[in-house]
Amino acid sequence: MTVQRVLTGITTSGTPHLGNYVGAVRPSVQASTRPGVQSFYFLADYHALIKTGDPARVQRSTLEIAATWLAAGLDPERVVFYRQSDIPEIPELTWFLTCVTGKGVLNRAHAYKASVDKNTAAGTEPDDGVTAGLFMYPVLMGADILMFNAHQVPVGRDQIQHIEMARDMAASFNHLYGEHFTLPEAAIDDNVATLPGLDGRKMSKSYDNTIPLFVPREQLKKLVMGLLTDSRAPGEPKSTEGSALFQIYQAFATSDETDAMRQAFASGIAWGEAKQQLFERLDAEIAPMRAAYEHYMTHPDEVERILLAGAAKARAIATPFTQQLRHAVGLRHLAAGATPAKAEKTAKAALAAFKQYREKDGLFYFKLADASGQLLLQSTGFDQPKACGAAIARLQAEGNAALEPLGQSLLPGVTTDTLDGAMAALRNAKG
Ligand code: TRP
Repeated sequence: MTVQRVLTGITTSGTPHLGNYVGAVRPSVQASTRPGVQSFYFLADYHALIKTGDPARVQRSTLEIAATWLAAGLDPERVVFYRQSDIPEIPELTWFLTCVTGKGVLNRAHAYKASVDKNTAAGTEPDDGVTAGLFMYPVLMGADILMFNAHQVPVGRDQIQHIEMARDMAASFNHLYGEHFTLPEAAIDDNVATLPGLDGRKMSKSYDNTIPLFVPREQLKKLVMGLLTDSRAPGEPKSTEGSALFQIYQAFATSDETDAMRQAFASGIAWGEAKQQLFERLDAEIAPMRAAYEHYMTHPDEVERILLAGAAKARAIATPFTQQLRHAVGLRHLAAGATPAKAEKTAKAALAAFKQYREKDGLFYFKLADASGQLLLQSTGFDQPKACGAAIARLQAEGNAALEPLGQSLLPGVTTDTLDGAMAALRNAKG
């Protein structure tokens, strides 16, 4: 069995809350113990600089998040656990990827577009308050992923577009410079709960409705008692549907405990009593971790040592790989150029091209050739030039996935990876 590399990052701009624990920390720690998996977990502190300009907060959040992962049972001996900014090869790779990424592709990134849309709605300049860091966010994330040739990237749905962009960057780079990168895939776990917050909306720092994972027991109790419920009196049956209290309970309880709580709701448990039970259930899981968390928070040197050891493991991969990439793009010892390597893909530095034409049969055709002129695809005939042009556009946008719906096929010996690489390179070149 080939080892699957799984990688994910956590931006160090906030304090971990119950939602982060249930949605990311707990499943990742569990996944890291599976055989046949090599896990990379890192603290995305370069990314944090895009979100906040508060140095003390970045430092504190980095410690809090590292302490959380360790307290939750992440074994730094077993996984590669590191801090992004300890890997100077990451910003270097970011630059290589920047040079194969279309600006237009970044224009369409959700986070950037949301800022532009907000400005447009407010009647201000489209890029008002938008840093180049926010604009480049997907490229930095691409470098995180591609540096370790991750196969799987566990993320929330809001991050899927970023993984697709990383795939495209990998395909473009491979197309230009040879096969260096694995094409990553987003891993979305539908069994992982999204927790509601204190006000019933999704638990999120941006709604200010979070329950921090590690607060003292008394404070946890206070927060849980403040959870929004409806106004049903004790003795009145209560609905589990849409109840934040019930959903949070379920995320921590066994299925038997959950059934018992459902029963209690039906028979009219008082909200105060239900909250008390939720609090005790939460505390039972958190209390043992809380002690470890407090230990790490009061021994930052220990955390620092663990992260540096992780960085050494990460750089054992990143340093030689970056050397390989530098060579691939032409940043080389000058004497090395005297005998150009045969295997070098100079022809591919140019782009594949579509040609559209009309045959004697009156129909419209296109063909696709790679940069060296070798034919990859010969289309079937189209009645209308417009349909022919639309097929080209769709192929370019979707690559291999468009072949079947368009009723087209590649020439014998041409792989779907070749097509995807060529199309990604075209997209990125056009922006
Ligand atoms: N963008 C991710 C988030 O906000 C954090 C992140 C940075 C990340 N680099 C990554 C996640 C690489 C996965 C892989 O949640």
